[in-house]
Amino acid sequence: MTADLKNDVDRVLFSEDELKNTVKRLGQEISRDYEGKNLLLVSILKGAVVFMTDLMREITIPCAIDFMAVSSYGSKAKSSGAVKIIKDLDRDLAGYDLLIVEDILDSGRTLNYVLGLLRSRNPNSIKVCTLLDKPEARDKSITFATDYSGLIVPNEFIVGYGLDYDEKYRNLPYIGVLKREIWEKDTNSV
Ligand code: IMP
Ligand code: MG
Repeated sequence: MTADLKNDVDRVLFSEDELKNTVKRLGQEISRDYEGKNLLLVSILKGAVVFMTDLMREITIPCAIDFMAVSSYGSKAKSSGAVKIIKDLDRDLAGYDLLIVEDILDSGRTLNYVLGLLRSRNPNSIKVCTLLDKPEARDKSITFATDYSGLIVPNEFIVGYGLDYDEKYRNLPYIGVLKREIWEKDTNSV
């Protein structure tokens, strides 16, 4: 048992500077593409919160923000695809150009569910921005493309910059791979 979060990280994938540059690039693309539109950033709690607060400060056009909380059933390290809404959006989506802001696209099941739900509420448009993409983990039956994508990650368990394992490591300022021995015991027990 160690008191220092850093000791549980096997290796750093992206430093604070690399993350900052990526978020800046995405902010510039979004600012250009949404000029004159009615942009609403929708972040899915809690993992995407760190990314969301940095991304919105790199966006130079007016935008509104809103939050949704969902829980995906499954083990601590794997989502099952069954999603429950814990907190819904505060507004009617008519007239908004929605951009869903996600921390990581893994199997894609959570986002697939949320996209379907929000589409049925008839916003002007709906797109997805994800900081991290783990293409090797994608559920093969899910075929959607992200519109804005930051960085590709390997098929390992990633923590930091909002991403957790059992609610820990969200406050690490960089992104790293969690040591295998920390999550292995949980996936084996389900
Ligand atoms: P999906 O439904 O499998 O795409 O996973 C959705 C959610 O699971 C993400 O928004 C994350 O909160 C979480 N998640 C997936 N992969 C990782 C990971 O490598 N580290 C931490 N959280 C993850
Ligand atoms: Mg999570």
